[in-house]
Amino acid sequence: MTAPALQAAHGSAGAIAFHDSELGGPVAHLSSAHGTALVALQGAQVLSYVPRGGTEVLWLSPMARLGTAKAVRGGIPVCWPWFGPHPTDPRQPAHGLVRSSCWRVVETAVHGHAVRVRFVSTLETATAGFPAGLSAQLDVTLGEELALDLVTINDGDEAIELTQALHTYLKVGDIGSVTVAGLHGRPYVDQLEPPGQRRGARKLQTGLVVFEGEVDRIYATGDPIATVLDPLLGRRIVVDTDGSASTVVWNPWIEKAARLGDVGPDGYRAFVCIETANAGADVRTIQPGAAHRLTAMIHAATAAASGAGGLNPEAS
Ligand code: BG6
Repeated sequence: MTAPALQAAHGSAGAIAFHDSELGGPVAHLSSAHGTALVALQGAQVLSYVPRGGTEVLWLSPMARLGTAKAVRGGIPVCWPWFGPHPTDPRQPAHGLVRSSCWRVVETAVHGHAVRVRFVSTLETATAGFPAGLSAQLDVTLGEELALDLVTINDGDEAIELTQALHTYLKVGDIGSVTVAGLHGRPYVDQLEPPGQRRGARKLQTGLVVFEGEVDRIYATGDPIATVLDPLLGRRIVVDTDGSASTVVWNPWIEKAARLGDVGPDGYRAFVCIETANAGADVRTIQPGAAHRLTAMIHAATAAASGAGGLNPEAS
């Protein structure tokens, strides 16, 4: 559907507008008293989130372009129906199939100051070794926080095993001064270790997560809430979740960023990924006729507005 057709079918004056972005493809622009958000139809990928009175929460690569076969780096890519490498077929792309495919808008809604767009993936999963009848729906809701609900529906006749992530790239002042609270005492799989050594060699997080080199970890988390403390930007970003028992923390640092080719000069210093996931041991089985919901809620507050604790990690 073209942007004008989307606008005619689903636009809502002052709240939801569809247009062609300078990145080269159609986007939905959400706006309310709570802020603004921009979502590309490609990948149903949130590209921008600015809470009212705040600044941009998400990092987007300066090389980002829509309409190419390559997934856009930044914002919130949807990794589905697998996270990381395909479970059995190494020829399949990392992080699933829907990051660069076009999603369909099926519904928009405005309730008070909350604005929602519902996307469904048009992908036929049977092409990638998954049984037919599997589908994904993503609700992006701009309210007091930004909420993403990724619902997987299994309308087929076989149970499926699912891994996935809402791969949030959070913009930070400088990765060297950022810390992540909320993961103390949690075991994690260190993805930088050779795959053969990871099993059974779980590490334990002590205190805050700090960044002094590449970090690529899958934390096993009961009911994860991770908080990014950013003294340079003077804010904390809370990522609260539902339907997830794993959080991925990732920053590529210098060499991997150079290999990736779309991070930009020193770009790795400007983001940290806190990914709301079903990954590692947190594999979900979805029976025929059943559904699974994965939710990420992102809330940003300046130090002054975030309560008595401000950026004090003890307060998180
Ligand atoms: C993270 C993974 O989720 O995504 C990393 O833990 C990976 O291992 C990163 O490098 C980026 O993946 P991609 O496919 O977007 O380059």
